Amino acid sequence: MRIGLSYDLKTAITGRHTNDDALEEYDSPETVEIIAGALESRGHTAVRLGGGVPLLDKLRREKLDMVFNIAEGRGNYRSREAQVPSLLEMLEIPYTGSDPECLAVCLDKPLAKKLAAAEGIRTPKWLVVADQGEMDRAAWQGFPFPAIVKPAFEGSSKGIRLTSLVADARQAQQEVRRILEGYRQPVMVEEFIDGDEVTVGIIGNRPPKLVGMMRIIPKKKVEHFVYSVEVKRDYVNLVDYESPVRLPAKVLDMMESCSLKAFKTLGCRDFARVDFRIGGDGMPYFIEINPLPGLGSYSDLIIMATKMGWTHHGVIGAVLEAAVERYPQCRAA
Ligand SMILES: Nc1ncnc2c1ncn2[C@@H]1O[C@H](COP(=O)(O)OP(=O)(O)OP(=O)(O)O)[C@@H](O)[C@H]1O
Ligand SMILES: [Mg+2]
Repeated sequence: MRIGLSYDLKTAITGRHTNDDALEEYDSPETVEIIAGALESRGHTAVRLGGGVPLLDKLRREKLDMVFNIAEGRGNYRSREAQVPSLLEMLEIPYTGSDPECLAVCLDKPLAKKLAAAEGIRTPKWLVVADQGEMDRAAWQGFPFPAIVKPAFEGSSKGIRLTSLVADARQAQQEVRRILEGYRQPVMVEEFIDGDEVTVGIIGNRPPKLVGMMRIIPKKKVEHFVYSVEVKRDYVNLVDYESPVRLPAKVLDMMESCSLKAFKTLGCRDFARVDFRIGGDGMPYFIEINPLPGLGSYSDLIIMATKMGWTHHGVIGAVLEAAVERYPQCRAA
């Protein structure tokens, strides 16, 4: 097949950035080359498309059988991840990964949590503050502190700093102000779950299956661990990754069923990564689901998969296969 590759490189994003983590979610040329290599090793032709406005012409010009999509989208819109899949649907080009609705809903963390909670998935308590007025009226009394304050529509730990963990309403309000001003979007204040951090990888559709689970363990014992943007940037020195996870079988079973339930509830396709923290009650708490998790060699899903015996190319191939299965015209190609 001729497979287009849609992506947004850090270097392609121009304009003034208000935060030093503005480009955090965007990809590097190495990731694009690994994906292209994986597609080519399976006998396909990889057509590098990029993203943004130039993608529009390329999509109309190139004769493509399918698109392998890792484009994060442009701007700070909560549905930016849906931009490229929406175009592909309009042009009737098959593509890998979740559809616009799923991508938009999952990037909106409070909305995704609402849907997950409605299905009985345990998730930390939260409140959302959209502006200064709402901050003054918010139900601070009785909110379970400590809490973590994060932008409502971000990934890659954007906006999540060492200061994001707050002990009381006064500190929380200070952080809410920082995010409102710096990230121009609503802020979520969420009960801090102080136990182990585990991320779960899923690939496939009929049925979706676990790639594995991975515990993120700080190298230095810290009082309250946050997998912040600072930690993610220096992960080699700051964290150890454990996969398979050595936690009680009961906890692992609960995370497996919760992550598959979240995948289904939120309408994910082909692949996703689900983040959990384990509470003081020993129960896993759903933090968020990423229907477009990073596929670079430094990404959690790839680190986990390689620890579980997959190759990097193998993961890309499995995502492609899951997508191809959904399109009769691609199965025949
Ligand atoms: N309620 C919480 N309790 C404890 N830790 C939390 C909570 N929410 C977030 N964190 C910490 O902050 C990190 C980033 O939060 P979250 O996963 O919501 O952000 P993200 O930017 O979407 O991440 P990703 O890079 O996975 O897209 C988590 O991995 C975890 O360490
Ligand atoms: Mg996360």
